[in-house]
Amino acid sequence: MAKILQNCTIISFIVIAISLLPSGSCDLIDTTCNDTPYPGVCSSFLRGIPEAKDANLSGLTVIMISSLTKKSNDEITKIDQLLKTKPGDEHLTSCKTHYKSVIDFTRDATNHARNSASEAGQGTVVDILLEIRDCEDGFHPEPSPLTDLNQTNRDVSNVIYFMFGQMRK
Ligand SMILES: *[C@@H]1O[C@H](CO)[C@@H](O)[C@H](O)[C@H]1NC(C)=O
Ligand SMILES: *[C@@H]1O[C@H](CO)[C@@H](O)[C@H](O)[C@H]1NC(C)=O
Repeated sequence: MAKILQNCTIISFIVIAISLLPSGSCDLIDTTCNDTPYPGVCSSFLRGIPEAKDANLSGLTVIMISSLTKKSNDEITKIDQLLKTKPGDEHLTSCKTHYKSVIDFTRDATNHARNSASEAGQGTVVDILLEIRDCEDGFHPEPSPLTDLNQTNRDVSNVIYFMFGQMRK
């Protein structure tokens, strides 16, 4: 019996040691991104930003939000280009308004991230997702010329939503 117990103890030690190894080699970017629906989208962006290396969860979230702000500005640039060939197009004009709101919301989201305000931050991300949807739905049933960016923006927004969720832990 004592022998079995001893073996169990040794096995437990090995199991604990193995389970500690991978987490020991994971940094905060990995652990944070792995807890979102799109770890690849998350880590590939954060790895490209030098300041992310030493940032805490709040800082990583601020950086991820800056990616959404940038992508939304890209979206508005694309809309402006499309508007040159279709001046006054109602759907494009409406999308531009929605993306301007997204950019306003990213400012709120940044403040929430700085204050680690998890619930307020998630609420703001939901508002952002609704703006993105309203843009896309405006084209329905015609195919939207903006779908690729809409998809990227949605993935990034979902990542940010889950990052805010981790602030509760
Ligand atoms: C995260 O880091 C920032 C500055 O780098 C600091 O001001 C803030 O207090 C930190 N937040 C937490 C929750 O540790
Ligand atoms: C964005 O694009 C995707 C992919 O085409 C589509 O399924 C979705 O309904 C669009 N709108 C939103 C809000 O995601």
